[in-house]
Amino acid sequence: MNVSIIGTGYVGLTTGVCLGYLGHKVTCIDSDEKKIALLRSGKTPIYEPYLTELMAEAQPNLRFCSNLAGAVNNADVIFIAVGTPPAPDGSPDLRYLSQVARGIGEHYAGDFVVVVNKSTVPIGSGNWVDSLIRESYEQHHGRKANGNFCVASNPEFLREGTALHDSLYADRVVVGSDDSRALEVLYSLYRPILDQTFAAPTYLPRPERIGAVPLISTDLASAELIKYAANAFLALKISYINEISHLAEKVGADIAQVGKGIGLDARIGTRFLQAGIGWGGSCFGKDTSALVSTAKEYNLTMPIVQAARDVNSRQRDRVVAKLLGELKILKGRTIGLLGLAFKPNTDDLREAPAIDIAKKLIDRGCKVRVHDPVAMERFQQEYATLGAICCDSPEEVADEADALVLVTEWPEYRELDFEALAARMHCRVILDGRNALDRARLTRFGYRYIGIA
Ligand code: UGA
Repeated sequence: MNVSIIGTGYVGLTTGVCLGYLGHKVTCIDSDEKKIALLRSGKTPIYEPYLTELMAEAQPNLRFCSNLAGAVNNADVIFIAVGTPPAPDGSPDLRYLSQVARGIGEHYAGDFVVVVNKSTVPIGSGNWVDSLIRESYEQHHGRKANGNFCVASNPEFLREGTALHDSLYADRVVVGSDDSRALEVLYSLYRPILDQTFAAPTYLPRPERIGAVPLISTDLASAELIKYAANAFLALKISYINEISHLAEKVGADIAQVGKGIGLDARIGTRFLQAGIGWGGSCFGKDTSALVSTAKEYNLTMPIVQAARDVNSRQRDRVVAKLLGELKILKGRTIGLLGLAFKPNTDDLREAPAIDIAKKLIDRGCKVRVHDPVAMERFQQEYATLGAICCDSPEEVADEADALVLVTEWPEYRELDFEALAARMHCRVILDGRNALDRARLTRFGYRYIGIA
């Protein structure tokens, strides 16, 4: 099939590269000329494991351009995968989505095409995009659009850091439209994934127990709600274990064992029960907030989703409170943060706990030294004014530090020579914000180890 993907962020680019790898002819469009130039040279503007490799394999089927007009016609499917960042009031900013929908209407020539919302968009956006395309078509062409295009929702469930794996070996594919033609087209498009008939890349082997991937084919509103409800549920699970970790700390229980003990009940499941400093990233915060704000439009409150948000922000304050409890005075202290990205294997800093924690510590008069294996450059570009001291290595972070905080559980941080680090520190305090380090080993090296619970 001929596929156009508008927006080359984490979602758009991953989707484009995977569909290209499966044999579809894909055009990726982005208004940012620099990104397009980079992509044409075989490089990616984001850090995502194996994306460059898969892009090279899919290369014969991929085209990159910055011109929307060329992407609208000759496509069987147009994916809209632009950003929907949170607006100041917590609702998603739909400016880019609306620009793209109007652009499609302007250039649409009348052939059959399915326009798919791939970005996480508020419930009702499918209808809205449909009406924007029609309105813009009428403005530019002086007549009503024919019935040849239809709108669908196809939410994505990929996680940054494992985006390609999550796309190729999805737990499920969800497609929603009120037009059955759209559902048929998307079924054909995803067939190689649904039936798992493609040859697996060597670096992304097919999981052993994967069978056919279930397809949920439903109406527009349901597909849109599935995405929000799934993210809110995962966010809730993390906040739940974090809330329990607070009590575990008081009663002297081991939260890792508690998480395992409840997670092995198949009705609960072990994943996303890792206690720590809470979730970050572009999705959980934005989507839980959007859900609460959509509910408000219907005069509904969402106390459970709101509570998950409150617990999450409390987790970040807990880091400062724990350091204060241990060091007694924070003013003038040097605190080293290991990790900036909101989780390992990404360079994404959106809503990263590290940023919030660094701000809180700097506000209290601490010197904050930071390091991340891949996100340093992005951090220097985006947070130059924060006042944190950028270090080239974890060793440099430890120099004269009164405490180290593990913020992102990068595998290389687990392997650090903590004995050597201890020798560089002023006080041997380590706050393991992800419960990822070996308490007994660190204690042997003379550290005062503080975990979450
Ligand atoms: C999340 C969802 O997991 C994806 O299914 C969804 O497609 C995506 O949002 C999206 O809407 O685009 P992502 O934000 O990339 O994916 O990352 P996650 O792996 O879900 O992690 C989110 C945050 O939760 C991270 O800060 C992570 O450290 C934290 N987390 C995760 C925990 O604190 N504990 C856990 O047990 C699991």
